[in-house]
Amino acid sequence: MFKIGVLVSGGGTNLQAIIDAVESGYINAEIVSVVSNRSKAYALKRAENKGIEAVFISRKQAGSAEAYERALVKHFKDRKVDLIVLAGFMVILGPTFINAFENKIINIHPSLIPSFCGNGFYGLKVHEEALKKGVKVTGATVHFVNAKADDGPIILQKAVEVKDSDSAESLQKRVMEEAEWKIYPEAIKLISENKLIIENNIVRRLDR
Ligand code: GRF
Repeated sequence: MFKIGVLVSGGGTNLQAIIDAVESGYINAEIVSVVSNRSKAYALKRAENKGIEAVFISRKQAGSAEAYERALVKHFKDRKVDLIVLAGFMVILGPTFINAFENKIINIHPSLIPSFCGNGFYGLKVHEEALKKGVKVTGATVHFVNAKADDGPIILQKAVEVKDSDSAESLQKRVMEEAEWKIYPEAIKLISENKLIIENNIVRRLDR
């Protein structure tokens, strides 16, 4: 069975969408472990509620960024995970982690990359900047993770309408509901079914 490990820091609505997709059979895989750098992350509770291993691994206790990444690598290697899913994980990962799981880490970003992404673009800030620029569509992007923030090969994107009446909060909500919760499970399904290849940093689908 294809094994998924998830890294979270917050509420975990994307984790929930993935749990639901596994439960319904849309994704044929097992979520083997959910790890958070925050002990009180509600995402851990969501995993526990479904009987999925939910673990707090402290960044502070690890001492250095590298020691933290080594601890995470060991955790997921011990569980033989095939894919690491970053679902609102607020720690920037360096080469120790990224090189240990080459092309096996994915992330979701709440804009159409390359707009409104990179260092400092997270949470509401992404949507505030989209509104400030006056874009008429925004959306979400699932991508493989490489050494640069929001820079790895793009797997899926979905556009979402921006309304004149939007606040950053209402836009964030629409992007989650209409894009994130749909394309994250879809991307995991494609990867678990071996339907993607990466050529010269471009993701190609083998199923169409
Ligand atoms: C989402 O907006 C996602 O795009 C970003 O972090 C947020 C996580 O939200 N990477 P949640 O914890 O999944 O609800």
